[in-house]
Amino acid sequence: MNQYKVVLLKGDGIGSEIVEQAVNVLETAGELYGFSIEFQEELLGGSAIDAVGTPLPQKTIDACKAADSTLLGAVGGPKWDGLSGDKRPEKGLLGIREALGLFANLRPAVIFPELREASPLRADIIGEKLDIMVVRELTGGIYFGERGRTAENGQEAAYDTEKYSVGEVERIARVAFEMARKRGKRLCSVDKANVLESSRLWRATVARIGQQEYPDVEITNMYVDNCAMQLVRNPGQFDVIVTSNIFGDILSDEASMISGSIGMLASASLGSGKAGLFEPIHGSAPDIAGTGKANPLATILSGAMMLKYSLDQPEAAAAIEAAVSKVLQTARTADIYTEGMQGVRKVSCSEMGQLVCDALKASR
Ligand code: IPM
Ligand code: MG
Repeated sequence: MNQYKVVLLKGDGIGSEIVEQAVNVLETAGELYGFSIEFQEELLGGSAIDAVGTPLPQKTIDACKAADSTLLGAVGGPKWDGLSGDKRPEKGLLGIREALGLFANLRPAVIFPELREASPLRADIIGEKLDIMVVRELTGGIYFGERGRTAENGQEAAYDTEKYSVGEVERIARVAFEMARKRGKRLCSVDKANVLESSRLWRATVARIGQQEYPDVEITNMYVDNCAMQLVRNPGQFDVIVTSNIFGDILSDEASMISGSIGMLASASLGSGKAGLFEPIHGSAPDIAGTGKANPLATILSGAMMLKYSLDQPEAAAAIEAAVSKVLQTARTADIYTEGMQGVRKVSCSEMGQLVCDALKASR
């Protein structure tokens, strides 16, 4: 039997509730598909600041490096908002991505057929199906470039730097091209090449890698402002989108909403090896923490992505996705529930987790 070691970083806010449900689902999947996972909890974010005074303890980095993969809840909250940039919970998240070399962030925006009416977009705009993969560069660009405070004409000023090397663009482009090759063979590279020098290098590099290594994949280029507009005008035109760290952060939130709720979308952060970091794309939602209202599906689906991309259990991953689809026919958490729905009841975070486990068992 395959045995894996997975680190759990529950983080802050709703983090512990949603991770707990994902763990239940992964354990159920293990029983059904013949593998077992040994979970080990470590600290990250605000809870780490409270416990040991830093958002990213060295012990957390060491544990993640030694594990087969890592599952993360969410970090941050108003309690730590007053801290300076380097001490904030978010610094822990950026730090762990960097420490593990996770340069590629995959954020699939898919619409479950059961949730079509939960999308804020009209049915005719959504079209037949919606299945976009946003490939976001995760360890470079303005998130990691030089930043600081300075003085200009006697006034305080601040700056952040967007910088990409050819090598950084090449490796994220290859991830995106490989992804496109397995899907609809269409890649849209998003930049701001009409203004930014770093974008001009990005665009030229993506074009070269495409010509040399992926002539079978069609490349288009789009400016980020246009892409933000096209995502709500005609989302069906996109297959794979590849973009920089900051543009990917923004566009993936937008793409997620098309799918009905940000509470539904999973993500995978990968480096050059098999191990990765899997997390919902939503935040820690401190306003609903502890109320049982959180939607655990994005974290459960992140667990499925872990099985697929890190642990070589694609069958179990597909079964979890199917179980989620099935459960959505009759049960919804508050974020995707509308009053008066026929045959659908409103459920809590833990009930939702249990229902997915039940559906998983019933499918085997
Ligand atoms: C995300 C988040 C993070 C990011 C924050 C919490 C630092 O918004 O994962 O999209 O900007 O990468
Ligand atoms: Mg974000």
